[in-house]
Amino acid sequence: MAAPTVEPVVPPVRPGDSPWAVETHGLTKRFKDNVAVDGVDLRVPRGCAFGYLGPNGAGKTTLIRVLLGLTHADAGSMSLLGYPVPAHRDRALARIGAIVDEPRFHGHLTGRQNLQILAAAREPAARARIAPALDRVGIAHRGDDKVSKYSMGMRQRLGVAACLLGDPQLLILDEPMNGLDPAGMLDMREMILSLRGEGRTVVLSSHLLDEVERTCDAVAIVDRGKVIRQGPIADLLADSAFELQVDCSPSDRAQALLAGTRWQTGIHVEPGGLRIDLAPGTGRETVAEVNRLLVEGGVSVYRLQEVHASLESWFLEVTTRLGEHQ
Ligand SMILES: Nc1ncnc2c1ncn2[C@@H]1O[C@H](COP(=O)(O)OP(=O)(O)OP(=O)(O)O)[C@@H](O)[C@H]1O
Ligand SMILES: [Mg+2]
Repeated sequence: MAAPTVEPVVPPVRPGDSPWAVETHGLTKRFKDNVAVDGVDLRVPRGCAFGYLGPNGAGKTTLIRVLLGLTHADAGSMSLLGYPVPAHRDRALARIGAIVDEPRFHGHLTGRQNLQILAAAREPAARARIAPALDRVGIAHRGDDKVSKYSMGMRQRLGVAACLLGDPQLLILDEPMNGLDPAGMLDMREMILSLRGEGRTVVLSSHLLDEVERTCDAVAIVDRGKVIRQGPIADLLADSAFELQVDCSPSDRAQALLAGTRWQTGIHVEPGGLRIDLAPGTGRETVAEVNRLLVEGGVSVYRLQEVHASLESWFLEVTTRLGEHQ
């Protein structure tokens, strides 16, 4: 009698259901006692540019290597484009382009030849994407030069072109601004924003706060392997303290009128007026209240301006605050 056939159990995967391009739960990677990725819960919305921001050694490259299956996780779970990995890694990777560390190419071959080799390992349609990809990253005119003659910026662009061969829904770029001069950084930023404009998701790691602030919609801030904050940059900044610049006269009278109010954490007299430190979470009504108090107190108010913390000062604020509690 023939052995009964057993259908393999394939978990139902409906990647379209997931709003997240990347989702991880408790992802952990240790190197002996060093926890390089420490219980990371990450949620990257589809269609955004997402920055994984942290200082050197924070565990950015390790997280990316774990996501891509270049090294295994010690604990936790993850899905990419809605596919649970590692179970469905191949399906996920078919729609992902990644650059980890410095993009590596054969220097004695041309940019185009390098892409031809990479395309050969992909689906047949990849070959037809070589010319548009070179064009797209702005190096079509140098496509037939040897890569050994390329500048750092051109290699980075070729790296992005290589990513585009798979028509990726998700690009994962480890420190894409590294080694680029200001013009190269500007080009890379524009390239990332235009990729996002096509509905692709771009995850980039960086230790450059300013770059992340300019390039990304959302961010996770990572320190010593742990994500300490994540979300849309605008939301994170809204939670931060901000300052109110008030042009008014006389400023000593203005200072006295505001001194007892609960929403300020400091008042500084400056030429032409005051600078007021407002507590985190203080709403816009405070600005109106400052104006009312001053005017009713006989102070002439010429201008009120909110000055929000940049991501950089916010980042320092968060990390310093955490440090105080340790
Ligand atoms: N292969 C490895 N073996 C042992 N330790 C490692 C290995 N790779 C990384 N580490 C350690 O893991 C931690 C995180 O390293 P990782 O390279 O992920 O940081 P990073 O945030 O990418 O830093 P950078 O900004 O310098 O690129 C560091 O303490 C590093 O020394
Ligand atoms: Mg790194």
